[in-house]
Amino acid sequence: MTVLTDEALCVGADLDAWLRVGGGEALRRALADRAAVIPAIEAAGLRGLGGAGFPTHRKWAAVAAQRAGGEAAQRAGGGAAQRAGGGAAPPAGADGKWIVCNGNEDEPGTFKDRFLLTRTPHQVIEGALVAAAAVGATQVALYANPREAVALAVLREAAAAWAGHGLLAALSAALGAEVRLHVVEGSGLYIGGEETAAVASVMGGFPFPSLKPPFPAEHGVHGAPTLVNNVETLAQAALILRIGPERWRALGRGGAPGTKLFSLSGDVLRPGLHELPMGTPLRELVFDHGGGMLAGRAFKAVFTGGPSNTLLTAADLDAPLDFDSLRARGSRLGTGAMIVVGEGTSILRKTAEYVAFFAANSCGQCPPCKIGTHQVSRLLERIEAGRGRPGDLEALENLAGLLPGSGRCGLVDGAATVLASSLATFREEYERALGRG
Ligand code: NAI
Repeated sequence: MTVLTDEALCVGADLDAWLRVGGGEALRRALADRAAVIPAIEAAGLRGLGGAGFPTHRKWAAVAAQRAGGEAAQRAGGGAAQRAGGGAAPPAGADGKWIVCNGNEDEPGTFKDRFLLTRTPHQVIEGALVAAAAVGATQVALYANPREAVALAVLREAAAAWAGHGLLAALSAALGAEVRLHVVEGSGLYIGGEETAAVASVMGGFPFPSLKPPFPAEHGVHGAPTLVNNVETLAQAALILRIGPERWRALGRGGAPGTKLFSLSGDVLRPGLHELPMGTPLRELVFDHGGGMLAGRAFKAVFTGGPSNTLLTAADLDAPLDFDSLRARGSRLGTGAMIVVGEGTSILRKTAEYVAFFAANSCGQCPPCKIGTHQVSRLLERIEAGRGRPGDLEALENLAGLLPGSGRCGLVDGAATVLASSLATFREEYERALGRG
C-alpha cells in the first residue's frame, strides 16, 4: 500500500468513498493513542518532503511541546473561513495551535502536491488531522496555490465534507475545542511557499519570508505555535498511521524509508509523476519509469530539487535517490523534482532560465538576493546570447561565492548553488559561448 493507489485516486473529494476504502483508519488510530503518534512518525523515519528533509517527528515534537495560544490568544475569534482571492483571512483568536498544510508548490519541475490535492485530498486532510491530534492543534489551514483552480475546488469540497463528521467531532472532543479546517488561497507568488511566508499569507498578509529563529513551531500564525508541513509529508503521515511505521519503512530501498513522489520532466520519453521507493537509483527513474531519453539522445545531467541544487551527471546515474545519498554526493533531493537534460540541450540555457525564475521571484526584501539574482541573470543571458564580455565568467564565479547565505530565506542560495554547479560541471559551455572554447 502506497499513497497513490488506484483506490485512493478514484475517490476524489467524496469523503464517504474515502472512508469505504480504508480512509479514517489513520485518524482513528491517532485518536486511540495520541501520545503514540509522534513516536510512530519517528519509527517510520519520515522526513519533510517539501524539500528540506527535516525529521518530521522533531518538528511535530517541537510544536507539541509549546503551550497553545499566541499573541491573539486572548482575543475573541471564530467562524470558519474560506479565503478566496482578496477574501478575509482565517480569524485570529483564542485558537491554540495551527497546522499549515503547505500546497503552494511553484518550483519549476515540481508537480506532486497539486496531484495529491486534486486526486486524493482526504489523504492529505487526514494527515493534517493526525498531525493536529499529535501536536494539539485546533486550526488547520489548507493552503494552496491560487493557480491550481481544480485542486482548490476539490479541496474546498473535501474540507466541507469533514465539517460535522463524527471523526472530526471526536478529534475536537479529544482536544477540548472545535477543530476547524480553513481552505486558504495563496497569493500566487512563488515565495509564498517558504514557510514563514506561508504563515504570513495565512494571516492575510504579503508573503514576505522572515528570519528564523523563531521557527513557526514557536511563533507562527497569529503568534501561535504552528506546524508547517508540505502536502506530501502529511499524506505520508496518514499512510504511516494507517499501515504502521514498520510496513511503511519497508517500502523504501537500501535503508531509506518509505516512498517518494518524483516529478520527472525534461528530455525523457515518459515525463510524469512516479511514486517509487525512497532510494530508487536515478538510472531506474530515468530509463525504466521515464522510458529513457527522448529521441535516443545521451543522458547529460539532471537539475534536482527543483532546479536549485547541485546538478547530477552521468556519474550519478546509480545514485540512490534519497536525502542522505544525494547529500553525500554534494547534491540534494529537494522536492524530488528531476528535470532531465539530454545531449543537445544547453545547460547554460537551462541555468539562465532557472536563475531568471529566481530573479523574477525574489521578494526584494534582501538586497543581495534582489540585486544579485538579477545581476547573475543578466550575465547569463548575455553570455548565452553570444554577447558575453571579458570578465563575465569571473564575475559569475565571484557572485556564486558571495551570494549564499545573504538572504533571509533559501531563494538566493538556490540560485547560487545551481549557478556554481553549472559553472563547475559544464564550464566548457560557458567558454564556448564566450568564444574561448
Ligand atoms: P530549513 O532547512 O530552514 O527548515 C526545514 C524545516 O525544519 C522548517 O520547517 C523549519 O521550521 C524546521 N526546523 C528547523 N529547525 C527547527 C527547530 N529547531 N525547531 C523546529 N523546527 C525546526 O528549510 P526551508 O527553508 O523550510 O526549506 C528549504 C527547502 O525547500 C529546500 O531544500 C528546497 O528544496 C525546498 N523548496 C521547495 C519548494 C516547493 O515548491 N515545494 C520551492 C522552493 C524550495
